Amino acid sequence: MSDLSRLRDLSVIVTGGASGIGRACVDRLLAEGWRVVAADRDGAALERFAGIDPAELMTAVLDVTDEVAVERLMARIDASFAPLAGVVNCAGTGRDVPFLDSTAQLFRDLYELNVIGSFLVSQAAVRRMRTRRIGSVVNIASVSGLAGNVGRSAYGASKGALVTLTKVMAVELAEFGIRVNAIAPGPIETPLIAELHTPAVRAQWDRTIPMGRYGTPDEVAGVAAFLLDPDHASYVTGQTIAVDGGFMAGGVISRDG
Ligand code: NAI
Repeated sequence: MSDLSRLRDLSVIVTGGASGIGRACVDRLLAEGWRVVAADRDGAALERFAGIDPAELMTAVLDVTDEVAVERLMARIDASFAPLAGVVNCAGTGRDVPFLDSTAQLFRDLYELNVIGSFLVSQAAVRRMRTRRIGSVVNIASVSGLAGNVGRSAYGASKGALVTLTKVMAVELAEFGIRVNAIAPGPIETPLIAELHTPAVRAQWDRTIPMGRYGTPDEVAGVAAFLLDPDHASYVTGQTIAVDGGFMAGGVISRDG
């Protein structure tokens, strides 16, 4: 962990911060010394942060697809918390639907949340960060945005779009000293996955992942913290880092059964 004392007056916003990977990012970044804004649509779930010093953590009920609300929150952060130096776009969701059963509405819904929500939060934050010439954006994509996983046509297309958005932002924003990267998690033990993955699906993933297991939210949060940290990742931009137990590297992984 680097010395972030010089950044203690700066903050990071984590969307989807009340659950799963986002929640782990909030915990990890607080532990590393950042001031954190945990923003989530689920106000009740944000209550789990009650008791944390409000000088260290601001919680905010936010729907990331509501651009007026996004702008209002950014103004509130400027006025009553700390200038932003980082964004983790974690608010998102997935659906497992065969291509032939997928609907245009499913594509629209997933694009709206996973891509446009990340775009809105990033743009509002970057408009502020560029004047200070410091900033890092981390988009939580997915291995399903990099590979053709069965059932993931709408979800995978939205995450593939987020990977491309990451590259374009990295290229355009480099001149302002702002880095933009993505993380592509494999299956991570979160409430979302508890809902989506049946025992049969779990068995398939366990067989396919070289490390033979699901990841933990903190294993993703550690990479997000690395990418945000200007002492560790100052020359890293435009990348998508798979945090997947070797899934994206794999081909045939066993000669047995
Ligand atoms: P989760 O369901 O545990 O947490 C997602 C959080 O986002 C929830 O607290 C939810 O209230 C919030 N949220 C949903 N819509 C929102 C909106 N419109 N505005 C603000 N907040 C909203 O999910 P999990 O598993 O932690 O996933 C987080 C991200 O990681 C998602 O983008 C997901 O696609 C991605 N991901 C997850 C993987 C996994 O295996 N868990 C694998 C690859 C990617």
